[in-house]
Amino acid sequence: FRQTQPVMFDGMALPPFPPLLQDAKKRFEEIRNMEYRKGDIILAIYPKSGTHWVWEIVCMLLKQKAEYSKEPKELFFLEAMPDLSIVDSMESPRAVNTHLPYRWLPKQHIENGGKIVHVVRNPKDVCVSMYHHMKSSEEIGEIKDFKTFYETVFMNPNAKLMDGWYKYEKDFEQAEKNDTGGTIFTVHYESLKTNPITEISRLAEFLNINLKDQDIAEIADKCSFKKLKVANDTIKDHSILDIGEKSIGEKIKEFMYRKGEIGDWKNHFTVAMNEHFDAVYKEEMKDSNIKIQFE
Ligand code: A3P
Repeated sequence: FRQTQPVMFDGMALPPFPPLLQDAKKRFEEIRNMEYRKGDIILAIYPKSGTHWVWEIVCMLLKQKAEYSKEPKELFFLEAMPDLSIVDSMESPRAVNTHLPYRWLPKQHIENGGKIVHVVRNPKDVCVSMYHHMKSSEEIGEIKDFKTFYETVFMNPNAKLMDGWYKYEKDFEQAEKNDTGGTIFTVHYESLKTNPITEISRLAEFLNINLKDQDIAEIADKCSFKKLKVANDTIKDHSILDIGEKSIGEKIKEFMYRKGEIGDWKNHFTVAMNEHFDAVYKEEMKDSNIKIQFE
């Protein structure tokens, strides 16, 4: 169904990042065994749920000003960085990001009550966003239509990225139930989009960062989809990511900020696909308390 089969590890399909293609087990274990440093923050977010967006917000909060950094979030992306020892040279407080499921997050970080920022997005829009991403990055080879992607990748147990949305989010929900120390912060993409100031204030409080209302409002504004997309094109230095002749940086730049809306799935799902999705969702989520806003 795909031009190239995805690399599988621990029952999940992996994105084609060089360290995972070379030796997924090694990189997963390196991440799991990462050394904890006080103040570390991990953004643990399912693919296509707003990682870039929340990354920028966290960086601005840490800097305590609404200023874009030149460095793309991929530089601090645990499973994709060329060498994991890069995190050793980062200044504290270190903020890193990953799509790894909860059970693979750095053990010491969890044991020491390190902070985790988590974003949940409605899975219909995640599916659409992932389709566009994988099509642009040529990860799905010959698949050119959304329906085929939905059937053979998103819903296929042998092709579900990082456990697939359901398992990833249900495992996180369970982790939150066990998290008595309040170390996991969860924000819904839809709520962040609709109430950015309220949600960013909540995040600042979680990170123990005291900012004036005006600063929070400025961060919300600078991280709006339109402004972030422009900043991504004009301010970020993606060439840092280029390896050899391949312009990975340029590629990433092109499809990370696509539409940024709630409910784009309505432009992609047929009535039959939607009915199928809803039935699967109902069954998968029957024991979950996660409340998802689809539009
Ligand atoms: P779409 O493809 O639906 O546009 P990630 O960063 O985890 O890969 O997630 C990418 C998705 O987040 C894309 O969704 C992208 O457009 C969206 N996104 C990025 N910045 C955003 C912002 N400021 N507001 C809303 N959505 C944003």
